Amino acid sequence: MDRYYYQLLENNVKVAQKRVADDPDYFRNLAKGQQPKVLWIGCSDSRLPANEVTGTRQGEIFVHRNIANMVVHSDMNMLSVLDYAVNVLKVDHVIVCGHYGCGGVEAAMGNKHYGLIDNWLRHIKDVYRLYQDELDGIEDRELRLQRFVEVNVIEQVFDLSKTSIIQNSWEKRKAPHIHGWVYELSTGLIKDLQVTVRLDKDLDQIEEFEPLLISKKGVVE
Ligand code: CO
Repeated sequence: MDRYYYQLLENNVKVAQKRVADDPDYFRNLAKGQQPKVLWIGCSDSRLPANEVTGTRQGEIFVHRNIANMVVHSDMNMLSVLDYAVNVLKVDHVIVCGHYGCGGVEAAMGNKHYGLIDNWLRHIKDVYRLYQDELDGIEDRELRLQRFVEVNVIEQVFDLSKTSIIQNSWEKRKAPHIHGWVYELSTGLIKDLQVTVRLDKDLDQIEEFEPLLISKKGVVE
């Protein structure tokens, strides 16, 4: 086995020791249970660890990740995480976080075949079709990809808001709020896409609300 592998286990011991040195009860408290306020639906990309980019610690964010941070209605894994987060943990916020330079989104923009993953990319390609006029109108490939990343996040926010889990929760407890973010790898900064679905609107207004949210302002800067 290579050295790097063993290093991971050694690092774990060091991290645990440091935590206990700072706070002797740290792990005892963690072991009692979790009360995260946030569900994070992010890309699997190794450069996007939810806790690290938000300056939060263990126990603060419940996480679901997949390639290109997708909300796919038939994905039992995602639905189970969402149901548990919303109905058991009762999180206040759900954040869909994508990132510029997303390999999944980029692959969905082209026609290359990658094997099994093509089935997953299909869902992202559907988003392209929805925004085709706007995206085809952006000549620069890099800028088009950036915008594709953004509209993909926006679309997942809407798909999330239409799930029965979220709809029922809004009716019952007027929560959680849903947000769309894009992480800029080259600066480490998060861009809030301002697609927050506000709960002061009636549920049946969500559809009408969409065009207002998909603002072209301040998009590809
Ligand atoms: Co990605």
